[in-house]
Amino acid sequence: MSDRSDAPTSVIRLADYRPPAWAVAHVALEFDLGIDRTEVLATLELVRQADEPIRLDGEGLELLELHLDGRRLGEGEYILANGVLEVGVDGDRCTLATRVAVRPAENTAFEGLYLSGSRDAGFLLTQCEAEGFRHITFYPDRPDVLSTFTVTLRADKARFPVLLAGGNPDGAGDLGDGRHWARFVDPHPKPSYLFALVAGRLERISRDYTTADGRAVALHIWAEADVIDRCDYAMDSLERSMRWDEQAYGRNYDLDVFHVVATHDFNMGAMENKGLNIFNAKYLLADPDSSTDDEYRHVEAVVAHEYFHNWSGNRVTCRDWFQLSLKEGLTVFREQSFSADMNSAPLKRIEDVSLLRRAQFPEDAGPLSHPVRPSQYSEINNFYTATVYEKGAELVRMLAGHLGHQGFRKGMDLYFERHDGQAATIEDYLGALGDANGVDLAPYLAWYGQAGTPRLSAEGRYDEGKRRYRLLLRQRTPASAGQPNKQPLPVPVRLSLFDASGRALPLRLEGETQASAVERTVVLTGAEQAFVFEDIDAAPVPSLLRGFSAPVILECEYAPRELALLLRHDADGFNRWDAGQQLAGLAYDACRDGEPAGAAVAAWADALAGLFSDAGIDDALLAELLTPPGEIELVERQPERDPERIRAARQAMLRALASAIGTDALRTRYDSLRAQASAGLDAASQARRQLKRRLLDLLALVDANEGKALAAAQYDAAPGMTDRLAALATLAVTAPAAAEAPLAHFRERYDGNALALDKWFALQAQLPGDGALARVQALERDDAFTLKNPNRVQALLGTFARTNPTGFHRADGAAYRWLADRLVAIDALNPQVAARVATAFNGWKRLEPARREAAHAVVAELAGRKDLSRDLTDILARVAL
Ligand code: ARG
Ligand code: ZN
Repeated sequence: MSDRSDAPTSVIRLADYRPPAWAVAHVALEFDLGIDRTEVLATLELVRQADEPIRLDGEGLELLELHLDGRRLGEGEYILANGVLEVGVDGDRCTLATRVAVRPAENTAFEGLYLSGSRDAGFLLTQCEAEGFRHITFYPDRPDVLSTFTVTLRADKARFPVLLAGGNPDGAGDLGDGRHWARFVDPHPKPSYLFALVAGRLERISRDYTTADGRAVALHIWAEADVIDRCDYAMDSLERSMRWDEQAYGRNYDLDVFHVVATHDFNMGAMENKGLNIFNAKYLLADPDSSTDDEYRHVEAVVAHEYFHNWSGNRVTCRDWFQLSLKEGLTVFREQSFSADMNSAPLKRIEDVSLLRRAQFPEDAGPLSHPVRPSQYSEINNFYTATVYEKGAELVRMLAGHLGHQGFRKGMDLYFERHDGQAATIEDYLGALGDANGVDLAPYLAWYGQAGTPRLSAEGRYDEGKRRYRLLLRQRTPASAGQPNKQPLPVPVRLSLFDASGRALPLRLEGETQASAVERTVVLTGAEQAFVFEDIDAAPVPSLLRGFSAPVILECEYAPRELALLLRHDADGFNRWDAGQQLAGLAYDACRDGEPAGAAVAAWADALAGLFSDAGIDDALLAELLTPPGEIELVERQPERDPERIRAARQAMLRALASAIGTDALRTRYDSLRAQASAGLDAASQARRQLKRRLLDLLALVDANEGKALAAAQYDAAPGMTDRLAALATLAVTAPAAAEAPLAHFRERYDGNALALDKWFALQAQLPGDGALARVQALERDDAFTLKNPNRVQALLGTFARTNPTGFHRADGAAYRWLADRLVAIDALNPQVAARVATAFNGWKRLEPARREAAHAVVAELAGRKDLSRDLTDILARVAL
């Protein structure tokens, strides 16, 4: 990774896959740990699988010694070039030992072994997925080489009192010279990307857990002393996750200990290393004073996600990195199901689909578009994407829907049983699900290979004479990079038909003798297909893709009143919300086209005003209904993007909504919610906070003075972070001058609390308008800002570039040039982070001409540089296309 791109980047292709030439029967690792220098002795028991020399991956390693079957090899007896150590061997088995040195404190890329925190107080840890292990020792660093591991750690006892590695503990002791040692044995064969170690001064909280199959497990969560009291919620979440996986999937934990560690220095969210999960602190720590309700939910979800990987990822892993979604899509789906069970299922579905539309649809509509299973890559770290994760989860959901609850469980059981201890493929997965149910799921494979979001168009025609309703479904997927022609995919469409009074009609398809239910799923398999429903008394309103049954964009020409009907009556909570989103889309179009007083806006605003006074509707759902699609999602509603116009139109529709509900009604409801304010984490309290926030925003839009007063008061009185941050955000948008003191107060109050400060940076990075870039540049000069910390970079630069369209896409291109400059600086430290931030340029081609030209100039210039990492070069090359 950190090698610069002056060497031509090579492309890895799925079609070139070959099984490993040598297997590793066992590996013993011995670490002599030090911050500046760590020595690693790796002893590999190798077994021949093909007539080829041994080839081990290794990057940035200082090779000290190499032994073959106990004999030290001299130069000339091996080749070390281009990150590969090659040794020719005669027999079919051998023991190869290497001793290398690495430099953790110099590792700013946070891949391999590195230092988190300061030299004096920080700790050592590893991140190996995808290809970090080769930065630790020479090894066949690919996921289809599985081995048992024995790991011995040695280090100074005072500086590194805690020594951890994955597996069961197998002894520890003093070395007599101020150093100590600890050994761990992992009996479950695993690939190198699941290896981990942690060493340093850490505190812990612990809990005893007994699995359903009777294993006593010690659970430990480790963190630095100043944050250890914020780990309890993660521990509760872990226990709930373990229980849930036993009940929902029959999966038990399989070691005697389970460690979880929090770090502030991490490139991604978290990592499922066997027996030793490592988390970005952002997804592990939670307390009411510094975490929002959303963050609590994220902690619960990410703890579950990493835990669930123990089966979907670790016991059954991936044959190669093209299969990444085999573990990630599946684990996201499992995590979503868990969260739906722990919280509200319809709200969870709304949250997941919103994320898909906000993050994955734009990715799939631009030059970075790729299939859930890509066919080639030049840097695998750039494929940990919304497509592989979130769209991958939608594909699993379709399969689960196809098989039904019990059929899916039977299929999962067979998958785990058949492939336990193996490195599997997507075909293996579909094969196991299909075999367990006697069905052929091969048609779904096309979803994994084809990029782009399919458009599903639906056209209904009612025949009064025959009392029939004919629904014509068509699909089309736009061309994408490398895929000019797209095939039709199996698209499951769950649907209901409503009459004018909002009653769901019994459904009888042509040729059937009786109606089966008021909801059913039809599957569109070809480019188009008609479904004819009988015994329909009047033209119905179709509710399509209920629960978002397929990850497509629905194109159906609804009249505003039809959407309003669904918004009022649809029993499917997701579709009810989605009808509101579609109606909001029409309202947006009208506002953009200069008709804020038109019928669409009135239909949307009046329908919501009606729901607003309906006491039966849940606060959280109402808050979601009152939130139209965001500025990013709205981009696709016009051929060319002008962020200022999009924002102005969206603000206009929100103002129309506020006046339809009426300031008095908003105010009364806000006051009653405020009167009930508490720090409680129960669902009702969270829902009240969420609704309160929406109402405050709406009030501030129609009456800035009142909004200012309410927000300032809410900030001062906030019992927890959710209310505090919401008030601060509204205040900063509505009355920038009045926000200055509270912003300074927040900065001071949370000095030293990294996660709270990240929110402070992110909040300000999102403030729209002309002053945005200057504000971000001023924030870069804050003492707490550093390019070395990924969370901080994401909070300020990432948030600005990705979620502040009017600020980042300012017409003069100044923000593009500024970001390009920062990308080069970040890249020199941490290529993965630079590459991720650079994806903000993904949509440049759809900008209006002036901005497009400005962005293009910057992207082209950057893409032409020869001194950037493979990670950043790859993103730029694809974005510039
Ligand atoms: N497997 C991790 C997860 O739980 C993500 C690791 C990402 N690592 C990377 N280098 N991109 O989703
Ligand atoms: Zn994952």
